[in-house]
Amino acid sequence: MTGAEYDAILVLDFGGQYCHLIGRRIRENGVYSEIASHDIKPEEIKALSEKLNIKGVILSGGPASVFDENAPKPDIHIFDLDLPILGLCYGHQYIAKFFGGEVKQAKRREYGPAYVTIEKPVGVLEGLSKKEKVWMSHGDTVFYVPRELEVLAYTRNCPVAAFKHRTRPIYGLQWHPEVAHTVNGMQMIRNFIFKVCGCSAKWRMEDVVEKMVNEVKNEVGHGKAIIALSGGIDSSVATAVAAKALGDKLTAVFVDHGFMRDKEPEFVKSTFEKLGINLVVVNAQNRFFEKLKGVIDPEAKRKIIGEEFIRVFEEVAEKIGAEYLIQGTIYPDRIESGFKKFSDKIKTHHNVAGLPTRIRFKKIVEPLRDLYKDEVRKVAQILGLPKEIVFRQPFPGPGLAVRVIGEVTREKIEIVKRADRIVRDEIEKSGLKDRLWQYFAVLMDTKSTGVKGDARAYGYVVAIRAVESREAMTASFARIPFSILERIATKITNEIPQVVRVVYDVTHKPPATIEWE
Ligand code: XMP
Repeated sequence: MTGAEYDAILVLDFGGQYCHLIGRRIRENGVYSEIASHDIKPEEIKALSEKLNIKGVILSGGPASVFDENAPKPDIHIFDLDLPILGLCYGHQYIAKFFGGEVKQAKRREYGPAYVTIEKPVGVLEGLSKKEKVWMSHGDTVFYVPRELEVLAYTRNCPVAAFKHRTRPIYGLQWHPEVAHTVNGMQMIRNFIFKVCGCSAKWRMEDVVEKMVNEVKNEVGHGKAIIALSGGIDSSVATAVAAKALGDKLTAVFVDHGFMRDKEPEFVKSTFEKLGINLVVVNAQNRFFEKLKGVIDPEAKRKIIGEEFIRVFEEVAEKIGAEYLIQGTIYPDRIESGFKKFSDKIKTHHNVAGLPTRIRFKKIVEPLRDLYKDEVRKVAQILGLPKEIVFRQPFPGPGLAVRVIGEVTREKIEIVKRADRIVRDEIEKSGLKDRLWQYFAVLMDTKSTGVKGDARAYGYVVAIRAVESREAMTASFARIPFSILERIATKITNEIPQVVRVVYDVTHKPPATIEWE
């Protein structure tokens, strides 16, 4: 769906958790970005250039040290391609070392905000002030670069915090311009893509929507297609795109596993029926509760739910006789399940756990495969989806089952469902909703002593989680006023007899994740 009409930047992935953020920041500026494996060959870049107008390359950060024996390395011939190159963090260290600079392991890992002194505000650093607040996260440090490279900035701990090649458009930044904590990071990225690489901003969502609809039409032709609709933003948008292309040749299947939020199945049903989309709702609650009996391990729970989901879906697909499968896979899902070798797996995300295996589809069509989450939101708006879908908070595929710690039972799901309803209602009433990425309740697997109506009560503990985030890769716990937390706690303990205690989660991601399991 991309074509040479867009200028593009290639981001080589060295396993950094911020790699997608780099891609996102570029696209926010109207320039297409594609993530590629760190060891992509120059010939492959040339081949990609037939499809994409590649104007520059960014080497991302990553967890490795340039001294590790197995450290990921780029193909050094990419330096002969005559494309501008920007190295960030690990990429910065790699380029410095490649040109003969001195990189050493620092005594202490530097992690967090730092003030950098910019000596020469040129190229990537054009227009910036003498002192800039940036975000650092590194162990290795560049201490010296040869004459070929020129130092542009330094900090107390980093004598070479930024450099530029004297004659070629090659730059390195030790810090992360892509994260919001680097105050003028966006300007640094804009400098690279527009000033250094000379890109034009031509990546427009309206054109993208038209292309996606045409692509689905062409791929499916006169055949029948099916899609698993969860009511989340990705599958909802993929359904809307596919319905626009295929009309009643599309069937959307909503599998109710029993772990949905309060009134969710009804909401999805009425929304999509109103849009005139063929929808089959399957109540599969008994099957899921049965499969999860006695299962405690979070990864096992996720796996069982993912597999059972596929079984249910396959049964419906077989009945309908659809030859094509539409999926709401988005860009980060596709990349994560592709070439990632150097980053750790944190948890198995349900929607990318696997494809139906028993059914042979003629083809799997993934219209959103090149889009990031907020681009998907833009598409939703362009297609006129209701704002409850466009702006709904993300909800994990395994649903409330991963918000009940330990074994999932009907009673526990009922408790967490009621607590979640209260959290949502109170946050929404308070006007805090738009500031928050997610806000929800989690049911602990421990019990605690309390006192209800003058009597000892021994019951469940509910944790409230509310976070601010831009793309879920990092998140901060939200500083919700105590008065609102107090109201939530009072309501939960008053209205849900089994709960005696409510706690608030004050951990950022990292080190915690957003969901508890
Ligand atoms: P974590 O808990 O890893 O979550 O910080 C990051 C974001 O992903 C959501 N999440 C999921 N989304 N399928 C999904 O579609 C899943 O299995 C899943 N697990 C977590 C989570 O709610 C947060 O927004």
